Amino acid sequence: SRELPQEEAEYLIIGGGIAGLYTAWAAANTGAQVTLLTKRSVAESNTDRAQGGIAAALGQHDSPELHLQDTLIAGAGLCDEAAVRILVTEGPERVRELIDMGASFDRNVDGLCFTREGCHSQDRILHAQGDATGAEILRALSQNVVGIPNVDVLENQYVVDLLVRDGTCYGVLALDQTSGEFRIFRGRVVVLATGGSGRLYNYTTNPEVATADGIALAFRAGVEVMDMEFIQFHPTSLVLPGAPRFLISEAVRGEGAILRNSRGERFMPQYHGMAELAPRDIVSRAILAEMAKTGADSVFLDVTHLEPEKIKERFPTITLTCAKYGLDITRELIPVAPAAHYMMGGVKTDLWGETSIKHLFACGEASCLGVHGANRLASNSLLDGLVSGGRIVQRAAYVLESGSREKPHFSCNQLLPTPEINFKELRQKLQLIMGEKVGPLRTALRLAEALAFFDRWAHLRNHEVRETSQMETRNMLEVGELITEAAMMRTESRGGHFRLDYPETSERWQKHLLLKR
Ligand code: SIN
Repeated sequence: SRELPQEEAEYLIIGGGIAGLYTAWAAANTGAQVTLLTKRSVAESNTDRAQGGIAAALGQHDSPELHLQDTLIAGAGLCDEAAVRILVTEGPERVRELIDMGASFDRNVDGLCFTREGCHSQDRILHAQGDATGAEILRALSQNVVGIPNVDVLENQYVVDLLVRDGTCYGVLALDQTSGEFRIFRGRVVVLATGGSGRLYNYTTNPEVATADGIALAFRAGVEVMDMEFIQFHPTSLVLPGAPRFLISEAVRGEGAILRNSRGERFMPQYHGMAELAPRDIVSRAILAEMAKTGADSVFLDVTHLEPEKIKERFPTITLTCAKYGLDITRELIPVAPAAHYMMGGVKTDLWGETSIKHLFACGEASCLGVHGANRLASNSLLDGLVSGGRIVQRAAYVLESGSREKPHFSCNQLLPTPEINFKELRQKLQLIMGEKVGPLRTALRLAEALAFFDRWAHLRNHEVRETSQMETRNMLEVGELITEAAMMRTESRGGHFRLDYPETSERWQKHLLLKR
């Protein structure tokens, strides 16, 4: 073992998306010293890609109660109602704070514009610059967080492990990817805001950074994780040769887009009363059924009946991105198919963001307190990032007031040397297996094949790997196995977990699955 350079902060926050940045802002407002680590830059996150918007009961005819009902319905019987109540009642206040910070949501003569997305009974989704809502929120948050005196934002810091002793978290071991040096960051309050796991799948709307690191770190350190089997597949990601699986926002359907199969037939009304605006899991499975029926590799989103100028103005990013790949969406159908989008499960927390390890908190997509149940309601994720981050700061005051604490000694463990394997190929194989065996349609046989794959690579845990992409792949193996194990255990179908061999929802399974090392 060897000595490492050390730094110390009151709040140590890991992650630079909406949850991490908002927590940093709220903590800094209390006068605390904050260090925020991100593995790339603050601009790289799922938040930056969020299009549709942020849901909040701020409209004249809306109420937190209606928002609660819609969230519970989408969640397919597995939402924690107390958590949802907090989300929908504290959410509007958090959104007003964003507005005060300078986030500019789209407005018309009557005030803020609200749109609708799947499973919402009201128009309650705020958006910015049409379909660049997340980017605008990030801009406003960064402006209020980066560069203020009591917040240190350190980019290119890859967190390797949590430092936990006797059930308490003291900080993290991180690799500075610029200097190549390992460092210890201590924090009186450690917050995981590391986001989701989309990159575990071959098809995803998520950016490259979404490799589930926080969940792997926490699980390795003995923290409980929950609801890992529930993965949300967004119904409409772009399917064009050479293009990434770019998100085509649900708000496009909210503004009147129609889904058609490859024969040109509208199909959603046969699957659900809310048609194109049914809960996301239902739309995704209907699309897969239509693709199977027609033998096509996509279905189509049709906006050609809508006013072209309105489309261009309302969805500038989508219009331009499709145009870049030669598609004029005002005149042509958009080929789309489901892609991994959001993880409902994650590091289990209580209503204050506290995990099963003392002084360790989690918020945003990396965390799980049951607020999304088995299927997250559209545009509730940005809201959850704000609300769950804010609650941590309210709660953490007591940790910070409790005086100084011991400083146990931590050093790097010696592990077996890096094995001679092709990590790039291993990652691609994992993504393919997750897509084919642990995707939107699961069976015991498919899951068993995936588990056998994870078993073959379990020995990697005992080896030292020093490159970020290798460490990410190791984390992806860890979390992929957790998703698969939970999916195998849950012998029913519900929300983002569908078993072809157990297609019904079972009352017996109206419960959460907790996993712990
Ligand atoms: C979208 O714009 O369709 C994504 C919104 C979300 O994931 O909630």
